[in-house]
Amino acid sequence: TPTDGADAYQLTIKAGTAQMKPGRATPIVGFNGIFPGPTIIATRGRPISVTQTNAWNENVTIHNHGHKVAADSDGHPIDYIAPGTSKVYSYPNDQPGGTFWYHDHTMDVTGRHVYSGLAGFYIIHDPAEDALHLPSGAYDVPLLLQDKRFAANNDAIFDEREIGAGFHGDTAVVNGVVNPFHEVATRKYRFRLLNGANARIWNLRLNVGGSGTPLPFQVIASDGGLLAAPVNTTSLAMGPGERYDIVVDFANLPLNTRVTMANTARSPGGPDIPALMQFVVARQESDPSTVPATLANITRYKEADAKARANVSLSFNNGDWRMNGRAYDPARIDMVSKLGAVTIWTLTNDSGLMHPFHKHLIEFNVLDINGQPPPPEMRGLKDTLSVPGRSTARIIFKNEGFSGTYVFHCHKLEHEDHRMMLQEGII
Ligand code: C2O
Ligand code: CU
Ligand code: CU
Repeated sequence: TPTDGADAYQLTIKAGTAQMKPGRATPIVGFNGIFPGPTIIATRGRPISVTQTNAWNENVTIHNHGHKVAADSDGHPIDYIAPGTSKVYSYPNDQPGGTFWYHDHTMDVTGRHVYSGLAGFYIIHDPAEDALHLPSGAYDVPLLLQDKRFAANNDAIFDEREIGAGFHGDTAVVNGVVNPFHEVATRKYRFRLLNGANARIWNLRLNVGGSGTPLPFQVIASDGGLLAAPVNTTSLAMGPGERYDIVVDFANLPLNTRVTMANTARSPGGPDIPALMQFVVARQESDPSTVPATLANITRYKEADAKARANVSLSFNNGDWRMNGRAYDPARIDMVSKLGAVTIWTLTNDSGLMHPFHKHLIEFNVLDINGQPPPPEMRGLKDTLSVPGRSTARIIFKNEGFSGTYVFHCHKLEHEDHRMMLQEGII
C-alpha cells in the first residue's frame, strides 16, 4: 500500500487479521490493522509527520529504524503511547535515500509486538537517484523477510521464553504471506530486502528452477542508502534489522522459469528454512533501467579523524544477555557522546552467537571485523551490523543532527527485551 507524497499521515494501531496462508485468517496487531503496515514513501529533504493513534490495549512506542530524528520522535522504549492516546512523530528525511522501517520499540515487549505485526517499510526517495535510472515504480519491490510458527488454527505462535538464540519460527513469511510467488518480466528488478525476523539470520541465494544453479545479482544499497558501487554476488547474509537493496536481472531466463529465493543459513534456534519465496518469469519486456558502475559518493570517516573511542562488549553474564555487563535501565545514561565528534566504537562479542548491533540516530561505517576490512557490501552506510560470535568489530561514525538520549542494542528482539541495550547521552 504505497502512500506517496503526503506531508502528514494518520496511522491507527489496532488488532486485525492477515491472510498469511491462502484463505486463512491469522490475528495480528498492525498499523491501520494491516500487516505489514502501510509503506510510507517520503522524499529526501521534505519533512513529514506521522500521527500514531493507539487503538490497542497495550502501551506502544514507534521507532523509525535508521532515521535521523529528534529524540522525542525516536520511539524511546518508555516514551509510551498509552491506549486511547495519540502521538505525533516528526521525520525530517534529512539524509540520503534508502530503505528504512518503522516498528514497535516498547520496553521489554518489542519482540512480541513486532511479531504480532507492528512493522512497516519507510522508504526515503532521493531525487538524486532518478538520474541513475535504477529499476523503479512497479519494478522496485520491498520484501519484508520474517519467520513465524503457526498453530493448527493459523494463529501465529510466539514464545518470549526463547531467549537463548531468540525466537525462531519454522515457516518463512514474506510481506506477510507464506511462500508467496511474484510474477516478473524479463528485465531488472530492485528488491529492497529487510530482515524483519525477531532473531533469524538469512543467507540468501537465488536458485534457477529446481536445479540450484545460482542466479547472480547485484547489491546496490545497505541499511542507510546506496553503496559507492554495485557488488556482484550469488549470496547475501542478513541479520535481524539489516537491509540490503539488490538488483536481479531476469532478462536471460526463458518464460515460465521459476527462481527460488533460498536460504542456506543454519539456525541455532529453530528448524532450517530452505526457501522464502518464488519468482516466476511471466512475460517479455524491454528494460530501460541501468545499474551504473558508480552509484553514490559515500562519506567514509577515517580512523585518523577519530576524536573519541569507546568499547561495547556483547556477552552472556549471569544467565542473561548484556552489553558492557549491564542490563538496560531507561533512567541511566551509559555513555556520554559529543555531537559532531568522529567516534570509534569497538564491539567485542565474547559469546558464541552472532549479535546484530544497532545504534540509533546515525549511520556508521564498518572499519574492520577481526582486523580485516569488511566485505564490500558492508562498506557503505550501516546502522545494524551482524557481529559474529567470538569476534571484534569496529565502527566509526559522527553523531549528527540532534542531541538527547538514544539507545543502542542487539536487534535479536528477545535479547533486546532481556535488556541487551544501553543508552547514549548525546550532548
Ligand atoms: Cu529497529 Cu532500536 O530498532
Ligand atoms: Cu533503530
Ligand atoms: Cu543478541
